[in-house]
Amino acid sequence: MPEENITSVLTEKRTFSPLDSFIKQANLKKEEYERLLLKANTNFEGFWSDLALENLHWFKKWDKVLEWNEPFSKWFTGGKVNVSYNCLDRHLEKKSNKTAIIWIGENEEKRSVTYSELYEEVCKFSNVLVQLGIKEKDRIVIYMPMVIEAVVAMLACTRIGAVHSVVFGGFSTEALADRINDSKARMVITADGSYRRGQIVPLKLNVDEALKKCAAVEKVIVTQRSKNNIEMKSGRDYWYHEVISKASGDFKAKELDSEQPLFTLYTSGTTGKPKGILHTTAGYILWTTLTTKWVFDIKDSDVYWCTADIGWITGHSYVVYGPLSCGATVVIYEGAPNYPDWGRFWKTIQENKITIFYTAPTAIRAFMKAGLEWVKKYNLSSLRLLGTVGEPINPAAWMWYQKNIGNEKCPVVDTWWQTETGGILITPIPGITSTKPGSATFPLPGIFADVVDQNGKNIHGDQGGYLVVKKPWPSMIRTIYGDDERYKETYWKRIKGAYFTGDGAKKDKDGYFWLLGRVDDVIKVSGHLLSTMEVESSLVNHTAVAEAAVVGYPHEIKGEALCAFVVLKQDSVNKDHHLLSEELKKHVAKEIGPVAKPDQIKFTESLPKTRSGKIMRRLLRDIASGKQTVGDTTTLEDAGVLEKLRTQEEE
Ligand code: WT7
Repeated sequence: MPEENITSVLTEKRTFSPLDSFIKQANLKKEEYERLLLKANTNFEGFWSDLALENLHWFKKWDKVLEWNEPFSKWFTGGKVNVSYNCLDRHLEKKSNKTAIIWIGENEEKRSVTYSELYEEVCKFSNVLVQLGIKEKDRIVIYMPMVIEAVVAMLACTRIGAVHSVVFGGFSTEALADRINDSKARMVITADGSYRRGQIVPLKLNVDEALKKCAAVEKVIVTQRSKNNIEMKSGRDYWYHEVISKASGDFKAKELDSEQPLFTLYTSGTTGKPKGILHTTAGYILWTTLTTKWVFDIKDSDVYWCTADIGWITGHSYVVYGPLSCGATVVIYEGAPNYPDWGRFWKTIQENKITIFYTAPTAIRAFMKAGLEWVKKYNLSSLRLLGTVGEPINPAAWMWYQKNIGNEKCPVVDTWWQTETGGILITPIPGITSTKPGSATFPLPGIFADVVDQNGKNIHGDQGGYLVVKKPWPSMIRTIYGDDERYKETYWKRIKGAYFTGDGAKKDKDGYFWLLGRVDDVIKVSGHLLSTMEVESSLVNHTAVAEAAVVGYPHEIKGEALCAFVVLKQDSVNKDHHLLSEELKKHVAKEIGPVAKPDQIKFTESLPKTRSGKIMRRLLRDIASGKQTVGDTTTLEDAGVLEKLRTQEEE
């Protein structure tokens, strides 16, 4: 085994071929893969048409595979389909007693439901929604912990044709209110509270606060989880267990148009305002189903665990929709990875005999730091496949994962994708692709991803460029909810004729893709995509702050961390900087959520700006990461600012 300390992708020479034993049993085998690649190249629509027929249940077949008016796509138009039907009804004949979900609470509670039980609960809840006045295309915000009822709520929306928007339970009141208002939701589904590291997160209280600013919300449904004291507003708030106990267990899935909106999910953009990424029905469920089969090699006997929260796209596509559509057994865990200790994940794998495990590089790095003794305590021999997602995985973390968690026998799939792509686009296929630690390897069949320069010209050799996708794919973003212009502007202006991902990448001499991170002011902190702009506007909302600039800098575990440069208002400059710094961190945590809290705050009299008034973030990034500035500083309006910032102590 080569040593583990090679971290630069430039020097990465190791490759790992799939084991024969894995190849033999793989869902997607080489001959079929090559046939698919060829078909996608020679008959693009035929390729998608075959897959859609083979992998989904249709009430009515489509008339047209693709209507493409760049940048707007419509897939399988004229077809009728239902996502919850594909995730539930179609499994009932053969798998009604198979476990669909194993839920594990932070306090060791455990509960599971079979496919027929989940089906019945979803039917009941669909009836509840309709009885409370929800109609097709109404928006419903789901703000819940990782509990079975959250999955029920999502599936019930899809059953009746309502559009869900799941808001991560770690977001606070302001962020929640913004998302409720932007989606014009009529209903919020929440819980009294959830557990996080032994503390109760007061979800319902946050909803009550948010709703003071959200006039359109008429009804709130509350599941009971933590039994903390909450107020129920009569005529508006309903207990889940009360309304569902009276509902009928029959509800025929609605026959919905292929392009019926399925959900919106908010993600950070380069401006302060989050973007509501819109996904629609048929194309999304097709691609999440297919990728679950191909990339996770899902089998009937598997126990599959993706550790993502349902508040993120990974939770949508690979906790709920992809695996359930494949009829898999899915584990969901409510709490923190290190609660009550750093053995929690490994204990969960041992106790539930988990076979497929999918998590984020930031978590892997945190486990590396916590130490191997936590891993060694548990028997992980049930595992047969490992995956990562969310950011580039450094080769050292990849090697640690492959060796210590996978015992050198599990393929590791480093899956590249985005909220916007709906499902995995670039990844190894476990029974086919030889992996290189740190590389997401190749685009899947049907996905025409490439690396180009700013003129859209292909880049070869080891040079970096922009990662783009040159043809539409079924699970692609349809638009930014309510803002077609912003959709065009963000994804289709930069590179002519291609979808711009916002990521940098390069291809090596063997054609392997290496992801190089974001090229704009959106950064990844602990796997959460954050807009530095959004954190800035939150800081400026504080009474003491005149101006703020937020940048990312490399961080050993989080991947990137946030540094805020803050100019105080005149009447606050003499306040205690240490106290103020703590106060500002709390303020951001309260407004956006704890993930957005800056790690460092530096107070300054002014920010380095160009003569035209643009903040020179490149310079701030250098300062935050402790680098000497090498680039051009001649456009600076006041060169003295930099020197002052550099010599200043951290607050
Ligand atoms: C951004 C999208 C994909 C679901 C979770 C994140 C980064 C994601 C990888 C990977 C390198 C990755 C990209 C991308 N990213 N996966 N395997 N290797 N970078 O969804 O929050 O929309 O973030 O995450 O920068 O653009 P998201």
